[in-house]
Amino acid sequence: MLRTHLCGELRASHIDQTVTLCGWVANRRDHGGVIFVDLRDRDGLTQVTFDPDLCGKESHELANRIRSEWVLQVTGTVKSRGERVNPNLATGAIEVFVTRLVILNKAETPPFELDEHAKVGEEARLKYRFLDLRRPAMQRNLIIRHRVTKVVRDYCDAQRFIEVETPTFCKYTPGGARNFLVPSRMHAGMFYAMAESPQLFKQLLMVGGYDRYLQIARCYRDEDLRNDRQPEFTQIDFEMSFIDMDDIMGLAEGMAREVWRKILGVELPAPFRRMTWTEAMLKYGNDKPDLRFGMPIVELTDWAPTSGFSVFQKAVEAKGVVRALNAKGASEQLSRRTLDALTEFAKGLGAKGLAWIKIGADPAKAEDWQGPAAKNITAEARAELARRLEVGPGDVLFFGADSVKGVCTVLGAVRNELGRNLLKLARGDDWQFLWVHSAPLFEYNEEEKSLVANHHPFTAPYAEHVAKLPSDPAAVLSKSYDMVLNGNEIGGGSIRIHDAETQAAVFAALGISPEDAKQKFGFLLHALGFGAPPHGGMAFGLDRLIMLITQAESIRDVIAFPKNQKGRDEMLDCPTPVSDRQLKELHIVTSA
Ligand code: AMO
Ligand code: AMP
Repeated sequence: MLRTHLCGELRASHIDQTVTLCGWVANRRDHGGVIFVDLRDRDGLTQVTFDPDLCGKESHELANRIRSEWVLQVTGTVKSRGERVNPNLATGAIEVFVTRLVILNKAETPPFELDEHAKVGEEARLKYRFLDLRRPAMQRNLIIRHRVTKVVRDYCDAQRFIEVETPTFCKYTPGGARNFLVPSRMHAGMFYAMAESPQLFKQLLMVGGYDRYLQIARCYRDEDLRNDRQPEFTQIDFEMSFIDMDDIMGLAEGMAREVWRKILGVELPAPFRRMTWTEAMLKYGNDKPDLRFGMPIVELTDWAPTSGFSVFQKAVEAKGVVRALNAKGASEQLSRRTLDALTEFAKGLGAKGLAWIKIGADPAKAEDWQGPAAKNITAEARAELARRLEVGPGDVLFFGADSVKGVCTVLGAVRNELGRNLLKLARGDDWQFLWVHSAPLFEYNEEEKSLVANHHPFTAPYAEHVAKLPSDPAAVLSKSYDMVLNGNEIGGGSIRIHDAETQAAVFAALGISPEDAKQKFGFLLHALGFGAPPHGGMAFGLDRLIMLITQAESIRDVIAFPKNQKGRDEMLDCPTPVSDRQLKELHIVTSA
């Protein structure tokens, strides 16, 4: 070993010991003869001191030439810093007086400062990721990521789960995310699809009798990217047999509780809150409510016709809805200019407008209701509104009048914008977990003008809803559940269909013919016919989970080598073109 200790290890108890450290130069300061270097490795930072009287002239001269990010090996004596203790540093009580210096390697001048507090653009960080990875914040994130997967594996192992790897190269199946395709060299004109998740394989494993399966699985989806989306990402994927919804939800909760306990020292409440999908959409406008703040959305459709305000009346005549939310006591924080900006924000989401009312000191007085919608509302309607929205002094009310979908989208987003950004009601470490369950089995796809599976077509309907599959499919609810944390969907799953009859009824409702189903999902249908046990499962998005635990700003900060927002890796310069010869070999072009 080139070293005796790590750079974060030395304490007052090591004083007078001779030690050898290896690491990178984080910082060098020349204090008139005595040179101080902060030496960094993954473990931390130690001040190493070159005093010409102790290290000798040669080493001191060498130390004079040291630059940032050079790689050093230093041997020396641990000494107390006395009065100069640095309370912000784990090793702040000591310093190492160098007696021997070896320069293990030099470094080019880094393109940006690796200091924790330096603001560096993400483009540069990703291009020089190997340097960015040296930053303590990145190292902390990746170490936490490692520890979380260890906690998960230990937790599952103790509960009889076994980890099984499933293929990355699969058969293309329709529905779900867009797949990356890989051309086959050996089979001209044919393609593998990269697995978007191990879904079908884990169900086949249940048929195979592996009743508790786990995999920390890579998944590939050709989607447009966002701060919480990558084309390749990782799931904590599991599946169980002979269980029902509560068993899976209980296990997943236990896993989350264990992770928060072991990684953050936080004891989460048990059980987590639960809400039906329908309630979430109605009260929060989306299926992943951020419960760090209130401001529920209130139904006003029945009130709107008598409101006296034509915008609301017309929306109801057009079979739409009118809903509102109350930002309690927010009047002073929401200036006219902020409200105008919020209206533009709503319009950007497709709203025709965002009516608002500011309440003054006395909600009982008409003149204390101010805003574009206020003057039209009748006294009676105002009193009823005050009751329903629990109006008090200084409140600000926001209204949406549109289709159900439009109002949900706009008020849901306005609520998040208010809670997170404008009123700052959401703390990163306020952990509000929530289950959103029992979503409709199908959703209507506007583009395709047909029903599509909400989760995937193997999700089980509630037994008592199966009879409605042919007649009223839109009313069928599924045994599905998403785990939501602070407005992020961190995991989701369902109980699966395990009998061929129900599966056929679901395919029929989706307009998939038996021949089509056989061609596309034949292997699964076949397997279900050979004694499939009742089963279900779930997958956590590991990257999102770590992003929230570390309070990182983007999923890219918890992945060692992510793609950028455009799906590129600028460090590798990827993707790149390939030669015509390669394309020909893959039967992508026929002549070259
Ligand atoms: P689902 O598609 O909901 O379910 O994915 C599970 C979880 O994975 C995360 N996730 C992503 N994270 C980063 N980048 C992406 N592009 C991305 N897409 C999804 C989310 C999500 O909650 N097979 C089912 C699970 C099951 O039914 O057991 C599945 O894949 O946090
Ligand atoms: P208008 O009558 O178009 O001038 O709109 C009056 C107020 O109602 C303005 O503040 C608009 O932003 C708002 N508004 C208009 N259409 C809608 C709508 N569909 N939903 C909510 N507010 C609206």
